Amino acid sequence: MIIPNRGECFVLIHEARPLIHIVAHSIQVCRVALLIADGHLARASDIRRSLVQAGALLHDITKTRSITTGERHAESGGEYLAERGYPEVGEIVRQHVQLDDFRKAGPVTEAEIVNYADKRVIHDRISPLAARMAYIVERYGRTPKLRERLERIWQETAAIEEKLFQPLPFGPSEVASRLPDAGRRKEMEAYEQTILAY
Ligand SMILES: [Fe+2]
Repeated sequence: MIIPNRGECFVLIHEARPLIHIVAHSIQVCRVALLIADGHLARASDIRRSLVQAGALLHDITKTRSITTGERHAESGGEYLAERGYPEVGEIVRQHVQLDDFRKAGPVTEAEIVNYADKRVIHDRISPLAARMAYIVERYGRTPKLRERLERIWQETAAIEEKLFQPLPFGPSEVASRLPDAGRRKEMEAYEQTILAY
């Protein structure tokens, strides 16, 4: 399995010509995802940290172009990464809107962490799950069918939250205080440095 490191992810993001606020969003999602992953890794877990990092950084890799093409960016992002030699990361990306098969029991997976972390970040701000879901329903729930799908995703995400935090020494409401904003700015600077050197 080949997993791009942080710098390689930054280059992949840059090559996809992203809107800068989508980069900022992805960096913040990655911080949330790694906080949760590290909590599990401290308690013995088979989670691959590098896979969480790459999946989170790259989850919206085709989001910018989807704004004009109308493509489903989770599916196309998965394909985009598979074509570039990263099928396992692509699988995480493909499932970031909705998991293929969520089980409340069983080991925590990288796909669950990235899926959940994305739902905790509005633009580049960490928010409670309920606020993010209300935002999504408001923005994307244009038809009753879409609203119904979003409702299902919301219920599943609440279950994912319970599963992810049950073994952790901190709760969902403590995520933001554990991730001071200076860290986000530092990550954005690291991205910009990588791009300048590209
Ligand atoms: Fe997305």
